Amino acid sequence: MSVNALTSIADFEKSAHEKLPDFAWSYYSRTSDAGQTYQDNIEAFRRYRLIPRNLRDVSIRDTSVTVLGSNLAIPVAIAPTAFHRFAHPNAELATTKGATAMKTGMVLSSWSNHSLEEVAEATPRGIRWFYMLFYKDRNHMKRLLDRAERAGYSAIFLTIDSPIFPFSTGRPAPGAIPVPLRFPNVFDEEPPHAIGTAEYRQCLRDAVKEPATWEDVEWVRENTRLPVVLKGILSADDAKMAVERGVNGIYVSNHGGRELDGVPATIDVLPDIVRAVDGKAEVYLDGGVRTGTDVLKALALGARCVFIGRPALWGLAHNGEEGVQQVLQILTDELSLAMARTGCSKISDIQPSLVVHQSYYGI
Ligand code: FNR
Repeated sequence: MSVNALTSIADFEKSAHEKLPDFAWSYYSRTSDAGQTYQDNIEAFRRYRLIPRNLRDVSIRDTSVTVLGSNLAIPVAIAPTAFHRFAHPNAELATTKGATAMKTGMVLSSWSNHSLEEVAEATPRGIRWFYMLFYKDRNHMKRLLDRAERAGYSAIFLTIDSPIFPFSTGRPAPGAIPVPLRFPNVFDEEPPHAIGTAEYRQCLRDAVKEPATWEDVEWVRENTRLPVVLKGILSADDAKMAVERGVNGIYVSNHGGRELDGVPATIDVLPDIVRAVDGKAEVYLDGGVRTGTDVLKALALGARCVFIGRPALWGLAHNGEEGVQQVLQILTDELSLAMARTGCSKISDIQPSLVVHQSYYGI
C-alpha cells in the first residue's frame, strides 16, 4: 500500500494490522469481554443523523478551538495510550511531533516509554497534558506533579475508570515483548525485574493506589496549580460531583471499550453529562471517533473537543510521526467538509439542532 493510498482512518487501521507484529496488534485492539462497548462506540455515531443548514457562506471554515486555555487548530487531540514503542521505535516522541505539526495536543500516558521531560524536549512548542496514575506514596505524586508542571504540561488528567488495575490480564506475557520497554513516568527508579514478571507486577502493586477515591482527586486538586481533568466519566452524578470539587474538565470515556463491557457508547451519554455540568467545566469525549462527521456530532452534542486513541496508534504504526499527522489531517479535512455541508463556518456554529437521534424518526 503506498502512502498516498490512505485516505480514511479505516485505511490506517488496515495498514496497521498489516504492519504490526501480532503481540502489538492484539494489545492495541484488545477490548474487554465480548467487545460490546467497543462496537457500540462506533455504531452509536451512525444512529445520530445530521440536519444540515444551507445557503450560508461557508467558503472559509475555522476549525480552531480553545481547550484548557490552549488554542488548538482542530477539536481533535490525542488520548493517552500506553506503549507507543510497540508501534514505532520513536514511540511517544513521534506521536507528540505528529500532534504538534497539526497544532493540537496530546495527553501523555504514565505508561509511555519516554519520560515526560523527553517528550517535552521533542516538541518544546507542543501542547501537552499528563495522565498521572494514583500512587500510595503522596510524595511520589507530588514529585510527578511538579515534574509535569516544570516540563510545561498544562493539565493533569486522572483516569477514573480503572479502579482495579489490570496487573496481569490484557498485557503481553513476559518474554513475548520483543522490544525494549521502560516506564520512566511510573517509577523514580526502574525495579530490578523484567517487565511483565510476577516480581515487576508486585512492585507495581506496591506503588499504585487501587482503588482511588474522591479524596485522592481532591488531594491532586489541592496539590497542583494545573487544571485537573477526570477521564472516564459516564455518570451525570459523577460529573456533578467532579464539578463540585473544582475539576476543570469532564472527559466522557469508556476507555475505548477496554474496561467494563456493557457500558453505553460515549456519544449516547454525552448529552446528559453536558446538561449536568451546565457549563461549569469543559466536556470532552473519546471512543469510536473515526470520521469528521463523528467529530461534528460530538461537538453538536456538547463536547468541546474529542480525543482519538487507536487511530493515532494506527498512524504511528503506519508511518511514525508523519502517520500521526496524516490521521489528524484526514479528520481535519473531513470535519471541514462536514462543516461546509452543514452550514458551519466556525466551531461555535455547530449547534445541537444539527443532530437528531434516529429514534426520532422511529427507525
Ligand atoms: C488506552 N487507553 C488508556 N487510557 C488511559 O487513561 N490511560 C492509558 O494508559 C491508556 N492506555 C491505552 C492503551 C491502548 C492500546 C488503548 C487502545 C487505549 C484508553 C484511551 O485513552 C481512550 O480512552 C480510548 O482509546 C478511546 O477509544 P478509541 O479512540 O481507541 O476508540
